[in-house]
Amino acid sequence: MSSTIYELPELKDASDSNIATAFDALLHAFSIEVEGLESLEAIERFRIRWFGDKAGLVNRGASGFIRYAQNKQLAGASFKRLKEDTEQLFAERSDIVHRILKVESVVNASFAADRAQKNFLDLTLPGTRRSIGVEHPLTRTMREMTAVFAALGYSVGVGPEVETDFYNFEALNFPPNHPARDTQDTLVVAGQEDKPLRERLLMRTHTSPVQIRTMVANAPPLRIVIPGKVHRNDESDATHSPIFHQVEGLCVDTDITFSDLKGTLDHAMKALFGSSVRTRFFPSYFPFTEPSADVQISCPFCGGKGCRKCKHSGWIELLGCGLVDPAVFAALGGPRMANGLKPAYDTKKISGFAFGMGVERIAMMKYGVGDIGQFYSGDLRFLSQFM
Ligand code: PHE
Repeated sequence: MSSTIYELPELKDASDSNIATAFDALLHAFSIEVEGLESLEAIERFRIRWFGDKAGLVNRGASGFIRYAQNKQLAGASFKRLKEDTEQLFAERSDIVHRILKVESVVNASFAADRAQKNFLDLTLPGTRRSIGVEHPLTRTMREMTAVFAALGYSVGVGPEVETDFYNFEALNFPPNHPARDTQDTLVVAGQEDKPLRERLLMRTHTSPVQIRTMVANAPPLRIVIPGKVHRNDESDATHSPIFHQVEGLCVDTDITFSDLKGTLDHAMKALFGSSVRTRFFPSYFPFTEPSADVQISCPFCGGKGCRKCKHSGWIELLGCGLVDPAVFAALGGPRMANGLKPAYDTKKISGFAFGMGVERIAMMKYGVGDIGQFYSGDLRFLSQFM
């Protein structure tokens, strides 16, 4: 708003140019003042001050100018223009002020609603607790198993779940049509019939193909532990699931013997189930290990005395293992290593052992879970027990 308030001039000279200046000065004062309007009250005061019938500055000023002017016609025309101009300026400014006030009232209302809501915040109520996720019992078991071997200097490896027949079977000494393939009910990927058998895709039935992938890519010595998901065309029941998990191990070096295997697994079982657990080895068969063994541990529930969990035998069978069959090392001559060199798996110089175990079975024993399906149910009542 202008600092000096407009007053009608006292005219001393009735010349055309002086009258015109008087009209201009009035319009100028009006336009500055109208721009400063910000409230409905100010608009109303302004309207009375400028447009009031008798006392309004527009009418009062104009009638004075006209009365005084020599050229009444010219002054009349100036008055007409002044009226139009001032009314237009006033209408425009009023419109703007109305709009601004409307926006402000909407914003204020939302602030007020906000404040009102905050006023209802009851700080004495307990807060909303966001539950913190925990590792799935299978993930935890797999990590614990891997950690036992990591502490022995094993590195961790993984491989694809969709595998070729070569890595899953052939390189592991399961030749085509060999009856040992029947022990692993395989889910095959459809539409592979055009390919040679060794290139056909299937869902890996065990983590052992990662042994081959590791040896193809790395020269000995190596120690690797391989956690992962596997698939078999098994019917679901309390202890079977078509998708389950294994932890595989492979150690290849010079002078690896069956004693190394026994010592390693005995240590691992004690680390997983407690130091009082004992192990025993029974002859078994796997195409890729020779000799092969099944490993039993003394029942961790009854200490070996016999209970329902161990079917009163005192022992529980937990994993398969064996010394790597030289035929497996020989088959590595096929694919080249990543660095282009033939792998140095010379069966005269090196030997190794491998083992594989089911994660679900071990988790069921560790946590006393009676039905394997619980692990996949996604039921929070089950999962929250592992918090
Ligand atoms: N891959 C075998 C299975 O799934 C387990 C195994 C692994 C046995 C390594 C011996 C050595 O049945």
